[in-house]
Amino acid sequence: MCGIVGFVGESHAKEKIIDGLKRLEYRGYDSAGIALPINGKIEIRKHVGEIANLEKIIGEPEYDAPVGIGHTRWATHGAPSDVNAHPHGNQDNSIAIVHNGIIENYQEIREWLIREFGVEFKSETHTEVIAHLIGIYYDGDLLQAVNKAVEEMRGAYAIAAIAADEPDKIVAVRKDAPLVAGIGKGFNFIASDIPALLKYVREVYLIENNETVVLTKDKITIYNDKGETVKRDVFHVSWDADAAEKEGYEHFMIKEIHEQPKGIGETLLRRLKDEGGIETVNLDGISMTKEDIEGYDKVYIVACGTAYHAGLIGKMAIEKMAKIPVDVDVASAFRYRDPFVNEKTLFIAISQSGETLDTLAALREAKSKGARILSVVNVVGSSVARESDDVFYTWAGPEIAVASTKAYTTQLICMYLIALYMGRTKGTITDEYYTFIMNELKALPEKVEAILAQEDKIAALAAKFHHKEHIFFIGRGLDSCVSYEGSLKLKEISYIHSFAIAAGELKHGTIALMDPDSLVVALATQDFLYEKMVSNIVEVQARGARIIGLAKEGKTEIEKVSDEVFYIPQCADEVTPVLSVVPLQLFAYYVAKERGCNIDKPKNLAKSVTVE
Ligand code: AGP
Repeated sequence: MCGIVGFVGESHAKEKIIDGLKRLEYRGYDSAGIALPINGKIEIRKHVGEIANLEKIIGEPEYDAPVGIGHTRWATHGAPSDVNAHPHGNQDNSIAIVHNGIIENYQEIREWLIREFGVEFKSETHTEVIAHLIGIYYDGDLLQAVNKAVEEMRGAYAIAAIAADEPDKIVAVRKDAPLVAGIGKGFNFIASDIPALLKYVREVYLIENNETVVLTKDKITIYNDKGETVKRDVFHVSWDADAAEKEGYEHFMIKEIHEQPKGIGETLLRRLKDEGGIETVNLDGISMTKEDIEGYDKVYIVACGTAYHAGLIGKMAIEKMAKIPVDVDVASAFRYRDPFVNEKTLFIAISQSGETLDTLAALREAKSKGARILSVVNVVGSSVARESDDVFYTWAGPEIAVASTKAYTTQLICMYLIALYMGRTKGTITDEYYTFIMNELKALPEKVEAILAQEDKIAALAAKFHHKEHIFFIGRGLDSCVSYEGSLKLKEISYIHSFAIAAGELKHGTIALMDPDSLVVALATQDFLYEKMVSNIVEVQARGARIIGLAKEGKTEIEKVSDEVFYIPQCADEVTPVLSVVPLQLFAYYVAKERGCNIDKPKNLAKSVTVE
């Protein structure tokens, strides 16, 4: 998920584009660039890192023009670097483009361009093929060249292009990636999203799928995929810029909670390949042969905070499906306990940011002892990714809120995929079981949507219980792992003292804390542990605690022992964590909201902890 901006006007495109990119930084922030047609040529300037770095190399007033395009990047293919940053030009930079999305068949196109036209690629990105394609089709008509180029491409894209020979226009096109055109007086904008242009315009055209747009300073023309001009109603934007970045949500956290169905779908479906009618898991080309997997006598999963909680689920999945012993460790402890690691160890690091120092240091420790390093990371090209033998990306998109939500659920999906891949390759799971779990995973985005549709129920529970000062989370099996995550979410944004514990452990001490002031959130989603869980709830209810039960639809026994019950859709026990965590994320969010906390930037915390 990147951000693109284009401006056509009388002058000074540079400042408008930079403003717009800053407003889109929530879409990606690992590199940025701009392209301006100046004196018959296109000058591209780009730099790794945040937009401030780019501003340092475009300061001179001569570097400006009435027209330009810009980009802020969220890397998917090709690590963050100056050369991989957008805009990308064709061979002689007579064409420049910016792109948000993924060109699925870029490899094919790349090989064809090299073979047929001797094109020399500068970057590792999939995007660069677009610039070269438009370049070879260009004969003075940018619209035509863009239309020809998109015929060759498969995937998702929002593209804006300029040509040195037509310095007064921008041509843009979209397919499965957002694009809006901003209507000015004597100037016009194109952008990935409304925040980019709100400082200058309030009237926009929402560009539909497979539409192409030609912008000049006085005109915006929209064409459908048959090349016919399209009349489009003007959409008046009443939001303020800040709200727009959150796409109308009040906080990034709730926006990101709602982005989970998409993240889960992206993280899962991109890895499924149809091989001769059989669906297989492709770990992004990570080769792990049967011999490799049988050669591991130990898997370590090491991470911090929410990522560590995802590792707890990973342990259950890998042990169940691949029959290899798994140890999960918090990174800050792992490296100081001289862990037993050698070349027969598979070390899995999990990190959203890929920059958490404890996790990085643990990774280096394991590497120094000969382990194979596989990391599950959200930020492409981050340190953990770069220092790993293999990296398996979560496709959550940028996560801005400090409290991690969509990264957690997409990390779980990666854990299941790794476990399924290892189990199938090793032959420790049957095809039936493989297909069963795969179908359960594929049904998750819709089931998460169904939970999000009941958000008000959770908001009502938060309104009822937000004054509680001691909130406990209990569960058995996978539920106990999810209860740790539920408790962490609540602690970090509402500052309520909260504690999570395996329900079977209560009677060994913690139950002493239970009294009528206590609130217990009891997860009972594991069918084979349901009765045991209900009796644990009875134990805490007997001490006067208030109970919010969480169970699968139809499992209503729990209503008899709980004050409130929230139901998640029916699903296999193995995959419940992806569903059961969502009401806990929402509960934490609404409790923090009731208490007036700074939800996106909670006190004392940072999104990426780069210190020990
Ligand atoms: C979770 O909401 C917190 N932001 C924190 O616990 C986080 O999970 C931890 O710092 C690990 O971060 P990482 O995934 O970026 O490595």
